[in-house]
Amino acid sequence: MTKPIVAPGLEGVIAGSTRLSRVDGLAGELIIAGYPLEEIAANASFEETTYLLWNDKLPNATELAEFRNSLAKLRTLPDATLNLLRAVAREEAPTMDALRMAAGTLSLGGVEGDADEAAALVARFPTVVAAYWRLLNGEEPVAPDPKLGHAANYLYMLNGEVPSAAQARGVETYLNTVIDHSFNASTFTARVITATASDLVSAITGAVGALKGPLHGGAPGPALDMVFEIGQADKAESYLRAKLERGERLMGFGHRVYKVRDPRADVLSAAAAKMYRADGDMQLYDLARAVEEKAVALLEEYKPGRNLQTNVEFYTALLLHGLGLETALFTPTFAVGRVAGWTAHCLEQRAEGRLIRPGSDYHGGLGRTWSSVAERGN
Ligand code: ACO
Repeated sequence: MTKPIVAPGLEGVIAGSTRLSRVDGLAGELIIAGYPLEEIAANASFEETTYLLWNDKLPNATELAEFRNSLAKLRTLPDATLNLLRAVAREEAPTMDALRMAAGTLSLGGVEGDADEAAALVARFPTVVAAYWRLLNGEEPVAPDPKLGHAANYLYMLNGEVPSAAQARGVETYLNTVIDHSFNASTFTARVITATASDLVSAITGAVGALKGPLHGGAPGPALDMVFEIGQADKAESYLRAKLERGERLMGFGHRVYKVRDPRADVLSAAAAKMYRADGDMQLYDLARAVEEKAVALLEEYKPGRNLQTNVEFYTALLLHGLGLETALFTPTFAVGRVAGWTAHCLEQRAEGRLIRPGSDYHGGLGRTWSSVAERGN
C-alpha cells in the first residue's frame, strides 16, 4: 500500500472548487467573481459586491435599490442581542469576543432559512460591532440610519456623525477589498460547519472565532503598534532586526498563498495614501512605507527564499487608523466585510452538499492492552 500524503496545514491541497474568488499567489492577483479586485475595490458599493457574490452578477439599478433596502431594513438588532452586548460590555470583553457571542444570536427575530440568515448576518454585523464599541466606551448605541449605505451607516453608528463622502468611500473600499479570499482559514471553517448540514449562523459564529487569531485576522493591530513603536524611519532597521533575532514574526508580512506582494496591500496602500494626502499629513504613511521596505529586505535576509512580502493587514491598519478607527476595531471591521464572503461560501457549500471530512495520519501507540486502575499502581 502506498503511504498517503500528509499535508499539515493543508498546504497545496485543493479542498474544493468555488466561483467566488481566485487567488493567484505567484502572480499576485485576486479575482472576485470574475472581476480583478482593482476594478471592484474603489468603484463598487459594498452592497453591489455582496450582491455579486451571492448572485454571480452585478445588480441593475432596480435590483440594487431593492437589495440596499432589504439589507437596510434588517440592520436593527434583536432585543436579546442588544441585552447580551450590554452584559458583555460590563465585563469589558474584547470586541471580537463580543462579536462571536452576538453572532450566535442573529437567528433571532424571525430569521429562518439560508437566504434570510445570510442577509441578517451581513446587515447586522456592523450594528453589533458599532453598538458594542459604544457600550464599551460608556455610550448608548446609535440606531442605524436606513437612508445611509451600508459602509457609511457603519461609520455613522460608530461615531454618531454622518461621515464625509471620502471617509465612507475609504471604509467601503476596505470592506470590498477583504470581502472574499478563497479558502482562507475562517472561510474554510464556515464551509466545514455548513457541510455538516448545520445552519449559517453557526457557520459564521465559527468563522468569527477563526478570524480572531493573530495569524489570520488579528494581525493589523500589532502591525500598527509596530509602526508606532518604531516612530522614525531611521530606527526601523534596529527595531525589526531585534525582533527577528528574537525569532518573532513581523505582523503584516508573509502569507500562505502569496509569494509576491498581496494585491490587497496595493489597493489599500493607494486608498490610504489618498486619504492621508487629503488630510495634509503624510508623516505616518511615509513612515509605514519606510518600515515596509526595511521589513521586506530583512525578511529576505533572515528567511531567504521564503518570499515573505507585505500582506493585506499592514495597510489595513494604516487605512483604518486614518479613518479614525481604534486598533481594537480593526479585526471586527475585517469581519464586517468578510461576513459577506463567508455567507456566499456557505450558500455555495450548501449547494454542493458534501460533508468535509479529511483523514489523518495516526502516530500514537499500538498494541496496548487494558489494565485496571488497581494494576496500574500509583
Ligand atoms: N515574520 C517573520 N518570519 C516569518 C513571517 C513573518 N511575518 N512569516 C513567516 N515567517 C517565517 C516562519 O517563521 C518560517 O520560518 P522557518 O522556516 O525558519 O521556521 C518561514 O517564514 C515560513 O513560514 P510558515 O509558517 O511556513 O508560513 P505560513 O504559510 O504557515 O504562514 C502566516 C503564513 C501565518 C501568515 C505567516 O506569514 C505569519 O505568521 N505572518 C504574520 C502574521 C500576519 O501578518 N497574519 C495575517 C495574514 S493575512 C490574513 O490572514 C488576512
